[in-house]
Amino acid sequence: MSDMEHVRNEDPEVFKAMEAELTRQRDGLEMIPSENFTSMAVLEASGSVLTNKYSEGYPKKRYYGGNEFIDEIETLAIERAKKLFKVPYANVQPYSGSPANMAVYLAVCKPGDTIMGLNLSDGGHLTHGWKTSETGQLFKSVPYHVDKQGLIDVEEVRKLAMENKPKLIWIGATAYTMSLPFAEFAKIADEVGAYLAADISHIAGLVAAGVHESPVNHVHIVTSTTHKTLRGPRGAIIMVTDKGIAKDPLLAEKIDKTIFPGLQGGPHDHTTAGIAIALLEASKPEFKEYCTQIVKNSKALAQALSAEGIKLVSNGTENHMLLIDLTPFGKGKGVFVQEALDAAGITTNKNTIPNEPSSPFYPSGIRLGTPALTTRGMKEEEMKAIAKMLSTVIKEVKDRELPEDKEERTAYLAKFRQELLSNKKVEEIRKEVRAMCAKFPLYEGMEL
Ligand SMILES: Cc1ncc(COP(=O)(O)O)c(C=O)c1O
Repeated sequence: MSDMEHVRNEDPEVFKAMEAELTRQRDGLEMIPSENFTSMAVLEASGSVLTNKYSEGYPKKRYYGGNEFIDEIETLAIERAKKLFKVPYANVQPYSGSPANMAVYLAVCKPGDTIMGLNLSDGGHLTHGWKTSETGQLFKSVPYHVDKQGLIDVEEVRKLAMENKPKLIWIGATAYTMSLPFAEFAKIADEVGAYLAADISHIAGLVAAGVHESPVNHVHIVTSTTHKTLRGPRGAIIMVTDKGIAKDPLLAEKIDKTIFPGLQGGPHDHTTAGIAIALLEASKPEFKEYCTQIVKNSKALAQALSAEGIKLVSNGTENHMLLIDLTPFGKGKGVFVQEALDAAGITTNKNTIPNEPSSPFYPSGIRLGTPALTTRGMKEEEMKAIAKMLSTVIKEVKDRELPEDKEERTAYLAKFRQELLSNKKVEEIRKEVRAMCAKFPLYEGMEL
């Protein structure tokens, strides 16, 4: 019997796409570092009757009746977050990472205030003040950068902070492969009287498992998505530390008010249940082993790629992520490599690199990571084999040149995609990928 028989019967079009997506996840190597495969328990909670409920407000302080069980679930999620990350306050209601970060701005800044975050092409997230994000429009954004080695330039951060006296400084990244220097940032933020917020979306699992240093003793606020290394459903958490409460005793209250009623309406209770479950899972010894293996895998992959002559930003990794620098082959090659890897069944994403010579849409890097592969049970041996596959595909398309004329690019890429379908090397790698995936079954027993 199908696990989705109602969808199958009621909406065959959606069912068909869902079935194809499950096959895609099973048959391919998922290497986007912000993705993961949740447990069956998290999946069940996310697709449960909890989606039917409205519960504006907070536990015991709701605007709707019938929330006694939702209160239990949200309280469990809050208490588990506090225990796991060792913080006195947590809000588990943000719909996702971007609204969580917006809530932090609105709780501690006024529009027009100066804020600092890592520049987008240096690895920062859109919501850390990039110009096309509302966070870069509503606030005066002063971005900081990485140095020539690809490390956050702490001296530049200090200089910019002294000159601009920001109200809020972000530490956190979406494409950064080294450990984050929380203590150095804390000194700077304290010197200029700024709030320091750590966005640990990518590394939350590693922090919870003790595999990456925790920011909790250094920063005032911590935000995180719950669906990356933490392996929960799509959602987010905002936490306030003791240091944050010492700076402003009303900080937690301000954040609660900014989330609801400031920015959001009713929380997504099915997600809250998924977050509670993921936090319980993350507190177990197996999760520490899992996160330790994520980093071992990413280091093994980095080493094997370097041995293949593939250049990496900052020459390696200390976390779950790697950033391939394709500029030795020319600029703007990310799109060709991403498309060719897609055709081979390896999912990655094209990404800007520090001092990007091309553009965010046609960048010169490839971002990849090991959380999802590690969830499947893959280890160093598989990483070595995958490095060979990646290198073969990269070398196969490295000489492709993006037309200068922007109009010509779409047609050229459509032709390139077509050619990939009959590329023998890509086809061989596709077969190897399928064979490897078959050895590490995903959602075993799930029938669509
Ligand atoms: C560091 C960081 N912060 C925030 C976000 C935003 O999260 P969401 O996509 O859930 O809005 C991301 C997502 O990739 C991220 O990497």
